[in-house]
Amino acid sequence: MNILALETSCDETAVAVVRDGVHVLGSAISSQVAVHERFGGVVPELASRAHLEATTPLVALALQRAQLSLSEVDTIAVTQGPGLVGALMVGLQTARCLALALDRPLVAVHHIAAHLYAVRLGRPELQLGRHVGLAVSGGHTALYAVDGPAELRLLGQTLDDAAGEAFDKVAALLGLGYPGGRRLDALARGGKTDAVALPRATLPRRPLDFSFSGLKTSVRTFVQKHGVPTGDALADLCASFQEAVCDVLVSKATAAARREGVDTLVVAGGVACNSRLRERLTHDARRTSPLRVLLPEPRWCTDNAAMIGGLAFELARAGRYADPWTLDADPGLGLGWAAA
Ligand code: KG4
Ligand code: ZN
Repeated sequence: MNILALETSCDETAVAVVRDGVHVLGSAISSQVAVHERFGGVVPELASRAHLEATTPLVALALQRAQLSLSEVDTIAVTQGPGLVGALMVGLQTARCLALALDRPLVAVHHIAAHLYAVRLGRPELQLGRHVGLAVSGGHTALYAVDGPAELRLLGQTLDDAAGEAFDKVAALLGLGYPGGRRLDALARGGKTDAVALPRATLPRRPLDFSFSGLKTSVRTFVQKHGVPTGDALADLCASFQEAVCDVLVSKATAAARREGVDTLVVAGGVACNSRLRERLTHDARRTSPLRVLLPEPRWCTDNAAMIGGLAFELARAGRYADPWTLDADPGLGLGWAAA
């Protein structure tokens, strides 16, 4: 089954063609970083307009990369939510029109469930039963019990900033530009992880929830006191901050897996690109527990449409189609979105 998928939930316009849930035949992504950079954050109205300009050419590009024509597409898939409502509407409207004009079924996909599904892309041999999923992105930081590709139960989530948001805010504080998570990661590579003492919010009463605002404030206080460091001292501060985030993510995710009695942990979302987090998860977590830790390829960690087309295959197989005439974008889409 060839699925043409669209993703426009935030500041990336993405279209992909995915065959049978795991084979990415073609993927095209247009980033809006240049549009939002000078505002230091995503401006919803500008995001919608940029999606509108990019969507149709990207459909053509994804099909061209897949070497398929529109008539060879069997099913259309689209992100229904969560995300920015105006941004979601652009992808949804395009998908609806394609489904009706081509007379193909339409599948609605949950953005976070798709992030966790991304670990299966390109790995047809992967056996993945019940597991725990940690979604870490610019908008979300949450732990889920994943009982099936579309069966997620929330175990815990951030009480304030998402991990990616904390990366971006600290990066902005250090003058690294926007979004600075990736730049902070690169700078931290040369730094000492224990150079600056920073807090880890363990939240004993809410052991599977997260909080990153105290950590962010500590970095701000450090900068107010000492100024923005340069050279090795900047690398040290970046490494110390990044280590604090990784400590919390790794310990809570492994605790959740233990609590749920599962042997597999999947970590996905933009922050799963972080080199130190990947290192900690693949080495430390495996050394200290018998956990199997799986990460999507970095290109499928940040927002993309391949993950939407992948999860849509599972939904289509289960007959969980959407009505193209009535499907609505839902910025706060819940986990029961695809209930039969
Ligand atoms: O999943 P994503 O593309 O979009 C959302 O759904 O939010 O995640 C984007 C987030 C941004 O906050 C970005 O700074 C962060 O992921 N990110 C990183 C890295 N690459 C992307 N954070 C830390 N280290 C990285 N290498
Ligand atoms: Zn995302």
